[in-house]
Amino acid sequence: MIWSIVLAAGSGTRYGRLVPKQYEGLRGRRLVDWSLDAAAEASDGVVLVVAGEYREQAEDTADIVTTGGSTRAESVRRGLAHVPADAEVVIVHDAARPLATAALFAAVAAQISEGADAAVPGIPVTDTIKRVSAGIVRETVERSELAAVQTPQAFRAEVLRRAHAAGADATDDAALVEALGAEVVVVPGETANLKITHPHDLLVAEAVLDEGGRS
Ligand code: C5P
Repeated sequence: MIWSIVLAAGSGTRYGRLVPKQYEGLRGRRLVDWSLDAAAEASDGVVLVVAGEYREQAEDTADIVTTGGSTRAESVRRGLAHVPADAEVVIVHDAARPLATAALFAAVAAQISEGADAAVPGIPVTDTIKRVSAGIVRETVERSELAAVQTPQAFRAEVLRRAHAAGADATDDAALVEALGAEVVVVPGETANLKITHPHDLLVAEAVLDEGGRS
């Protein structure tokens, strides 16, 4: 069985609006609903993790709705606690990425069925990336070795549970799995799978939909 955890418990402080970004509308539907639909299409069950004050507004698309924690990793742990013990694959997805397709969920999950412990979507980095501290460039990182990593990320359930057992924090779940020494496979990501971080990102998402393609 494949279960997905959709994370929507962030306060979106960088977004700078009163409504957290995952509740903003895109083509008349909230970002969280776009994510739930893709997750539901590709999984046997979905756990939605929301902030306490949004529990009432949770959609029927989720099988289980629970309250998140103060960090992303804590929210994942709270969601994971509700994933049934017989789920072999767990996919974690940020509600802030409304344009991820069900096909991308299926692609990362397929890697686990084929034997991987973890699989993430990645796209080549097009900017030149420099390591900077105190306003000074310390290093230019070799771009050919870099990938911008997205969600949905799929895991063998037992591996994800072990990665989160110590209660550590990280910006994605794959980082916690890497810390265990497990191998994380990279599949091609989707360029349209942007993360809504600033209000203008919604305009880009609208344009992607106008163009007729999520992928
Ligand atoms: O903060 P960031 O943009 O990295 O958040 C990524 C995703 O994690 C968002 O969908 C956000 O709602 C979710 N999140 C959460 N609980 C937190 C922080 C973030 O569910 N405490």
